[in-house]
Amino acid sequence: MSFSTFFVKSYGCQMNIYDSQKIISILENKGMKQNEYAEDADLIVFNTCNIRDKAAHKLYSDIGRINKFKKEKTIAVVGCVAQAENVEMFNKNKSIDIILGPQSYHLLPQMIEDIKRNPKQINTEFIVNEKFDYLTEQKRKQGISSYITIQEGCDKFCSFCVVPYTRGPEYSRPLKSLIHEINSLAENGAKEIVLLGQNVNAYSHSHNGRKINLADLIEEISKNENIKRIRYTTSHPINMTDDLINLHSTNKKLMPFLHLPVQSGSSEVLKKMNRKYDINFYIKIIEKLKTINPQIEISSDFIIGYPGESEQDFKKTLDLVDQIKFTQSYSFIYSSRPGTKSSFENDETPPNIKKERLFILQEKLKEIQLKFNKSFCGKNIDVLIENQSISNPEYFFGRTPFMQSVYIKSQEIKPGEVKNVNISTCNHKNLYASC
Ligand code: SAH
Ligand code: SF4
Ligand code: F3S
Repeated sequence: MSFSTFFVKSYGCQMNIYDSQKIISILENKGMKQNEYAEDADLIVFNTCNIRDKAAHKLYSDIGRINKFKKEKTIAVVGCVAQAENVEMFNKNKSIDIILGPQSYHLLPQMIEDIKRNPKQINTEFIVNEKFDYLTEQKRKQGISSYITIQEGCDKFCSFCVVPYTRGPEYSRPLKSLIHEINSLAENGAKEIVLLGQNVNAYSHSHNGRKINLADLIEEISKNENIKRIRYTTSHPINMTDDLINLHSTNKKLMPFLHLPVQSGSSEVLKKMNRKYDINFYIKIIEKLKTINPQIEISSDFIIGYPGESEQDFKKTLDLVDQIKFTQSYSFIYSSRPGTKSSFENDETPPNIKKERLFILQEKLKEIQLKFNKSFCGKNIDVLIENQSISNPEYFFGRTPFMQSVYIKSQEIKPGEVKNVNISTCNHKNLYASC
């Protein structure tokens, strides 16, 4: 079988999407062409996510669907499900040809060659630095707002989470190669850099005998004049060091918006989750941030229905939301993941109660978000213009410093500009403006 076209689908987090971009450039550098539909491609790459049951199941239903339409094809399952389920996947679904863990994407071109001789290919080793050395050299198409992985893996072992098993131990990329990649993104038009990591604020690397942490790295990136905005995600509360907190006041390129997942408002639940902080510790960080920069807004992730979560515990989560007023958040019902510590715990809360709690929480979050968005109506705000609508060139899309999506009708703006626009209307998801 010859490979001239490929299709890539991402199922996961921002890092998963970033990895897919890298995979696309690897395959393009090999002379292959990306197709919009799996049905038209010789090689189908599913870049999987294992964080919740649903994400993992989706993969198998997608493979079933593609099998109906297409006989001649090669299926590569890469990413976190590949890492977690490993060689088992070949038994589960006969049409899978390649299994590749998240630390070995750079081996994909070789595997495509080898598959001609050996029809089943697998690699799930943790060889992170080799991966990054190789991937840094790949030319990458990115936009006005560009993502870059600076740290990967996790040593925290929250009781519910698969990431330490799928992404391996914490690893931070060297400063030099990051600055090289960021400068090249800036030369290609990037105005905003979003630093990615499963525990991005655990970033730590020795450079010329000195320990560099996330705050140092942000200061270094700020020196590039073409970079106007810097963000980082996802942070863990226990790695919010004082220098990083203070940077939110002193570094004007660092946006006043922080995604700091709390998971639950109950210290009892946090303890069971092995989150390593209690709720007072979390609240103190937010207080410090708001003291040094009153503008700062916070978003979070929540897990509802963790084994043993009582009505009282849930109420504490609602109280926290009322107190912090998170302006954007993700919330999920707890999903038991094979191999994690919490998968052995008794989970007695009935599914309908969990659904009801999730609904109540999400309604509250939505209400706060709408109120926050409404507070911008009739006011001016800086928006970094990210792109122009292809079908309707009068419309532009951008983001405020607080990550709100803004749709702007205009004849005169260009992607890449930071434009001060007047907000006319909004809903809980978007702001609207014209200029
Ligand atoms: N490192 C980040 C989160 C990475 S995973 C942190 O520690 O905050 C992204 C989010 O998925 C988590 O914040 C959590 O809310 C959710 N999540 C992880 N495992 C889950 C599970 N087993 N069930 C439901 N949600 C889960
Ligand atoms: Fe998962 Fe916890 Fe690590 Fe976040 S800190 S990736 S939730 S184990
Ligand atoms: Fe999913 Fe792996 Fe990201 S499990 S959330 S794709 S790190």
